[in-house]
Amino acid sequence: MLKVNEHYLKLQASYLFSDIAKRVAAFQAKNPEREVIKLGIGDVTNPLPAACIQAFHTAVDEMATTSGFRGYGPEQGYDFLRSAIAVNDFQARGAEVHADEIFVSDGAKCDTGNIQELFAADARIAIPDPVYPVYLDTNVMAGRTGSFKDGRFEGIVYLESTQANNYVPDLPTEPVDLIYLCFPNNPTGSTITKEQLKVWVDFARDSKALILFDAAYEAFIRDPKLPHSIYEIEGAREVAIEFRSYSKSAGFTGTRCAYTVVPKECMAYDAGGNKQPLHPLWNRRHCTKFNGVSYPVQRAAEAVYSPEGKAQCTALIDGYLGNAKIIGKAMAELGYSYVGGDNAPYIWIQGNRDSWEFFDMLLDKAGVVCTPGAGFGKCGQGYIRLSAFNSEANVVKAMELIRQALA
Ligand code: MLT
Repeated sequence: MLKVNEHYLKLQASYLFSDIAKRVAAFQAKNPEREVIKLGIGDVTNPLPAACIQAFHTAVDEMATTSGFRGYGPEQGYDFLRSAIAVNDFQARGAEVHADEIFVSDGAKCDTGNIQELFAADARIAIPDPVYPVYLDTNVMAGRTGSFKDGRFEGIVYLESTQANNYVPDLPTEPVDLIYLCFPNNPTGSTITKEQLKVWVDFARDSKALILFDAAYEAFIRDPKLPHSIYEIEGAREVAIEFRSYSKSAGFTGTRCAYTVVPKECMAYDAGGNKQPLHPLWNRRHCTKFNGVSYPVQRAAEAVYSPEGKAQCTALIDGYLGNAKIIGKAMAELGYSYVGGDNAPYIWIQGNRDSWEFFDMLLDKAGVVCTPGAGFGKCGQGYIRLSAFNSEANVVKAMELIRQALA
């Protein structure tokens, strides 16, 4: 008799965003005449930057020739892209990252979900609350938690991010081995300063822990004092893995391209307490389970770093940040307090009522989809998240519909 992985049975319902999509589909089936504006899942709506499209086309044409055709590429990514990343995303900011420490992949969701395979089953995990659900769900699947009780999984150290700490969690008071951090934050849109991040890096070094730093939203940072990478912090190369994505920065949600940085100095320990570099382990995993991102997609990603690509991506992001301002202003006028939106595409709104109730009410009365804060964890109860990823016209319309619904 084949038995299932019982840990999957501990998971709560379906994946948050699938759950929301199902509810929205049911609403649309019941109300086919109603327009629905989606400010729920952070999915981009603008077309790919022209520079990326041009590079994509050129690469597809190359694939149509005998001399330009490529079969399997290097699993870690082509050198042209890894080098462009190292130079532009890190070295230009004074952060030491080398091309061969970069692993190109098809998404930060997959990478943040898969990385936990490298660590022991009894690793003690610290996860923010509220949090992007992938970090938690993948550790539940791997059996690193007990059961779900009172809105939380037993065995997880929750790092509460609330108004009281300005949505930057305090250090844990119990021992942990693996720490998930995400800045600019999904879902709260909060940011972390270099000084605050240094505290975490020092903590990880002192406690032989590792930080998994999700920087998928770094391109939205407009405050020049904020760090874009954890490697801007001294000592981070030994204790941090960083995840990046082209999904939100260049509109690649449907095109798929991202990368993970595993510095050569980055270590964990074997059962005998000996240091084990993580770079060869991730390389082994990547080569065994992944066959690389397609050549045209990597050429399109490389174009992000051309002068035209940089300008076009900045314009895209500025547009979304403009939407965030519109959302924040409208919610403030309606008397709601919120954070985020300045250096992130998410606005985290205190709804003063049950999150799912707020979600249902907005959908029903305004035809606007939000993400209920409770879906991101216990500390998200009472909040909703609005995403700035839509056209400006739709955002303006959505805010007007919300105004009418809440009036
Ligand atoms: C979100 O809405 O939180 C994200 O778009 C989901 C994702 O990136 O997978």
